Amino acid sequence: MDCKIGVVGLGVMGGNLALNMERHGFPVAGYDLDAGKMRAFLDGPAAGRHIVGVDSPGALMAALEKPRRVLMMVPAGAPVDGAIAHLKPHMEPGDILIDGGNSWFLDTERRNRELTGERFNFVGMGVSGGEEGALWGPSIMPGGQREAYEALAPILRAIAAKADDGQPCVEYMGPGGAGHYVKMVHNGIEYADMQLIAETYDLLRRGLGLSAPELHGVFAAWNTGGRKSYLLEITAAIFAKIDPDTGQPLVDLILDEAAQKGTGKWTSQNALDVGAPIPTIDAAVESRIISALKGERTAASAALAGPPATYSGNRQRLIDAAGDALHASKITAYAQGLALLRLASDEYKYQLKPGEIARIWRAGCIIRAALLGDIMAAFERDPNLVNLMLAPALRDAIGRCQASWRFVVQTAVELGIPVPASSASLAYYDAYRSARLPANLTQAQRDYFGAHTYRRIDKPGVCHTKWE
Ligand code: 6PG
Repeated sequence: MDCKIGVVGLGVMGGNLALNMERHGFPVAGYDLDAGKMRAFLDGPAAGRHIVGVDSPGALMAALEKPRRVLMMVPAGAPVDGAIAHLKPHMEPGDILIDGGNSWFLDTERRNRELTGERFNFVGMGVSGGEEGALWGPSIMPGGQREAYEALAPILRAIAAKADDGQPCVEYMGPGGAGHYVKMVHNGIEYADMQLIAETYDLLRRGLGLSAPELHGVFAAWNTGGRKSYLLEITAAIFAKIDPDTGQPLVDLILDEAAQKGTGKWTSQNALDVGAPIPTIDAAVESRIISALKGERTAASAALAGPPATYSGNRQRLIDAAGDALHASKITAYAQGLALLRLASDEYKYQLKPGEIARIWRAGCIIRAALLGDIMAAFERDPNLVNLMLAPALRDAIGRCQASWRFVVQTAVELGIPVPASSASLAYYDAYRSARLPANLTQAQRDYFGAHTYRRIDKPGVCHTKWE
C-alpha cells in the first residue's frame, strides 16, 4: 500500500488535514495511540475515503511510499518528543517527520538538529486556520530542510488555502525553527488584533451602551473593502448569535476570563530577547492575564473609583472614529510583528522574506485580512522596508485615521475604559516617529547612580560625569 503521507494524531486538526489531503488525491495512512479516537475517525468522516488506519508505527511505515512523509499532529511539548521516540526506530534515513503543532521554535531547532544527526529530515510546520482551515484550506508555514519541504510541497500546495489571485498560502519559511517562529508571530498578531477589537467593543458597549444587535451592525459595516478581515467577520457574527436557552445574545452570557495556550506569551518573551518593541502584542497578552483575575477585579470594582463610563458627546462621531482607530492600531500591530520577524531573521539566520509571509497570510489563517494584500505589495515595492508604517500606502492610511485614533484613545481615558492595546499602538507610533526621546535623561540617571557612562550628541566617545 503506497500511501503518500501518514498522519499521527487523529484529533480534529489531524483528522481534518488527513481529509483535506485525501480530497486532493493523496491517500493517507492514519495512526493514533488512542484506538477509540482512531476508530471514531475511520468509521466516521474517513469512511469510504482513501484513508487507511494502522495500529503500530511499523505498520504505518509499511503503508507509506519512500521517502516517507509523516505528519505529527500532537500537542506541543513533551508529546512531540514522545511521538518522535515512538516513530523513529521504524524510520529510515531520508524519511521526513513533520511537526504540525504550535511548537516552541527552539524545541523545533533542537529536534531538527538531533534528527538531522541521524539523517532524518524534520520539518517544523505552522498551520493556521483552526478546524475549518485544516479541512478546507489552512495557511501553512513550513521550516526545516529545504529538500524536505520540496518533497512535501505538492501536497502542501494542494491542501493550502488559495488567495484571491489563486496562489496557495504556503511557502518555505527557512531553516530550523523558522516555520514555527513565523507561526508564533502570527499568533502574537492574532492576540493583538483580537484585543484591539475587544477594546473597541468595550468602548462602544460601556461608553455608548450599544446592544449586541447594534454592535453586529457596526462591525458588519466595518468589515468591507480594504478593512475586511476574518476576525471582524466572526466578531460581527458573534454579536448576532442568540443563546437558545435564555433568548439573550450569547456574548453577554460568556464569562470575561480569556484563556491562552502560550503562543502570544512566547512572542512577547522572545521579542524581549531579540530586542524588538511589540507593545500592542504585549498589551494583548497582559490583557488576557488581567482578565483572568476576575475575583480581584470584582472586589476592586467596589473599592476603586473612576469617572462615569458613559459618553455624552456625538454618538455617531465616536462610532466612526472607533473604526478608524481600530484600523490604525491594527496597522501598527502588523508593523510590530513584521519588524520582530526582521530582527529575528538576523538573530536566528532564518532569511525570512516578509513579503512572502504576508502573501501566505492573505487566506486560510486567523489573521487573514485585506490589509495583508497591502502589506505584501509594500514589501514587493521595497523588500528592505524597515517598518511597515513607512510604506506610503500604510503611512497614508494611518494619516487618514490619526485624528480619530487620538480622539478615541483620549475619550477612553476620560471615561476610564481600559484600552491598553490601542493606547500602546498609538504610543508606538508616536515613539517611532520621535527623532528625540527622553532616553538622554535615563542615561544621565544611569551614569549618576552607577557610573554606567553615556554618549554625547556633540562629541564622540564615552563620557562619565561626577554628578555631585
Ligand atoms: C491558528 C490559531 C491557533 C491557536 C488558537 C488558540 O492560527 O489557527 O492561532 O493555532 O492555537 O488560536 O490560541 P490561544 O489558546 O493561545 O488563544
